[in-house]
Amino acid sequence: MTSGDVIYQTEALIAEDIDAYLEQHQHKTMLRFITCGSVDDGKSTLIGRLLYDSKMIFEDQLTALENDSKKVGTQGQEIDFALLVDGLAAEREQGITIDVAYRFFNTEKRKFIVADCPGHEQYTRNMVTGASTADLAVILIDARKGVLVQTRRHSYLCHLIGIKNIVLAVNKMDLVDYDPVVFDAIVKDYAEFARSIGIESFTALPISGFKGDNITTRSANTPWYKGPTLVDHLETVEVLSSVDADKPFRMPVQWVNRPNLDFRGFSGLIATGSVKPGDEIRVLPSGKTSTVTRIVTLDSDLDQAVAGQSVTLCLADEVDCSRGDVISLADNPPQAADQFEATLVWLNDEAMLPGRAYWLKLATQTVSVTVQQPKYVVNVNTMEQLAAKTLELNAIGVAEIATDKPLVFEAYGDNRTLGGFVLIDKMSNATVAAGMLNFSLRRAQNVHWQALDISRDAHAALKRQKPKVLWFTGLSGSGKSTIANMVEKRLHAVGKHTFLLDGDNVRHGLNKDLGFTEADRIENIRRVGEVAKLMTDAGLIVLTAFISPFRAEREMVRTLMAEGEFVEIFVDTPLEVAEARDVKGLYKKARTGQLKNFTGIDSPYEAPEKPDFRIDTTREKPEDAAERIVNELLGWAPTI
Ligand code: ADX
Repeated sequence: MTSGDVIYQTEALIAEDIDAYLEQHQHKTMLRFITCGSVDDGKSTLIGRLLYDSKMIFEDQLTALENDSKKVGTQGQEIDFALLVDGLAAEREQGITIDVAYRFFNTEKRKFIVADCPGHEQYTRNMVTGASTADLAVILIDARKGVLVQTRRHSYLCHLIGIKNIVLAVNKMDLVDYDPVVFDAIVKDYAEFARSIGIESFTALPISGFKGDNITTRSANTPWYKGPTLVDHLETVEVLSSVDADKPFRMPVQWVNRPNLDFRGFSGLIATGSVKPGDEIRVLPSGKTSTVTRIVTLDSDLDQAVAGQSVTLCLADEVDCSRGDVISLADNPPQAADQFEATLVWLNDEAMLPGRAYWLKLATQTVSVTVQQPKYVVNVNTMEQLAAKTLELNAIGVAEIATDKPLVFEAYGDNRTLGGFVLIDKMSNATVAAGMLNFSLRRAQNVHWQALDISRDAHAALKRQKPKVLWFTGLSGSGKSTIANMVEKRLHAVGKHTFLLDGDNVRHGLNKDLGFTEADRIENIRRVGEVAKLMTDAGLIVLTAFISPFRAEREMVRTLMAEGEFVEIFVDTPLEVAEARDVKGLYKKARTGQLKNFTGIDSPYEAPEKPDFRIDTTREKPEDAAERIVNELLGWAPTI
């Protein structure tokens, strides 16, 4: 059947029976695929050909072209086709900086969404975005050039992201005289590479996007090729949602639907499996069980719901369940863990900072996470595993990660929804990485929190005070230690139990293995934060004097403490003043290049935006500042 027949029949059906048409259209399955390849491999031409031949272009700017093309005969078609391709190419060039261009088209059998991603290495981000929801990848090869570095990189990324259906489209066959020897050599070459990275199978097709060979109709130019056309293959290949339907039931809860007191349901998109009223379910991570009473949708109640459907489940009991929880069948729940090995694709200009806390979003869960130094990064062009301290833009690496709360998860290989995540910078809100959970680390499961009989409240009560952390931050030589010392003396004098942690001192012991790179400073503050936390558990008022140059780590420490316990004190001394004082002679060394990564000189300092106290040491004497802090603290909470 040609695409012309498809159009004719569709139009006839629309004219005769719009309901039947809509019915047919609604029940068509949807295939999402991605096209990738190098720069000049003819991607725009191929996509143009698919849109043009299927005659179903939904994008506004292309509809006009389509209308025109219907009016003209075969002669005119080439011109319109060329116009269409030019339009697509231009549009993609504009779109490159924004995101992936998604295009919609359909045939009689299926609906399609194609993610068109640019080929250059710097657009790995776009490719990962496009591939993350794709069922299939079309890897385009220019028959004249064969398997290129980009072919390998894109194939590796597609495989990594879990795309099981790979189509090797050997394009521009017209330019090699449809020579089967050329085709076979490329397929053999690719097969060898595919096997080496774990791609189990792929479908190879000789095509010409420009001439239309083997796109919708089998080409007379390739009588030696016996396989399906590209569209045949796209129409019949198994889609993810049908595979997902056979997996165990998992529904991440998006929101609790409670329009009135009589109705309470849990809404979400079913990631895998199916569910029926009467099924016994379990809510994770709490483990509470109940029974499904109804499956509600906008239209009507369902007897069964499967992967890919958005539904609201009503339960027999008033169980606790909120956004981020996952509902499974009672007898087959997923696990929860807080330490994992993960594969990360770094998508940000700023390299990954080991130890920095990022937000991790997985399905509907959001938790705080830290990433350790990578175990290795993969050179995507050669597939070598190399040692690395960090992940730069576009790098792919494997690292251990630790979350602050248990995550309900599955390995990415088993479940893309519950195994795939993104990392978000807490300050800028930028998406900095895409990741895949490989497995949880056992040590997290075997180390339990020991409940102690003497609680932190008991410790504090005996000392008749409320624990606090007075966190002094500021440049080297700003006066942190001096003021902290005076504050401590005053608190001590009125009978408070205190302890002062000072940067220079802690770096002689606990942190003597750390230097002044960003990563080391982050680890320095992480450890100090944990020590301060233990000391507040012991009921102490802790004072810390560290440059602590990064907002993110100061915020991280704040979240370790109970509400209101963390008091940020910004010792605001301008660089010129600290440098002029130069008590330890370090600024001089930094200026003459003898000391690298010195804060304020060649390493950044991020001043607090809303400190609890700001001390302008050019106006306020240390004694006065200390007095002010103590008075205010004692006034705030007379029992401290
Ligand atoms: S932080 O950045 O990790 O918080 P911390 O407060 O522990 O720093 O240590 C800062 C002290 O280390 C400074 O007061 C200074 O005496 C010393 N120091 C040595 N090298 C550097 C450097 N490159 N940058 C800043 N301080 C340094």
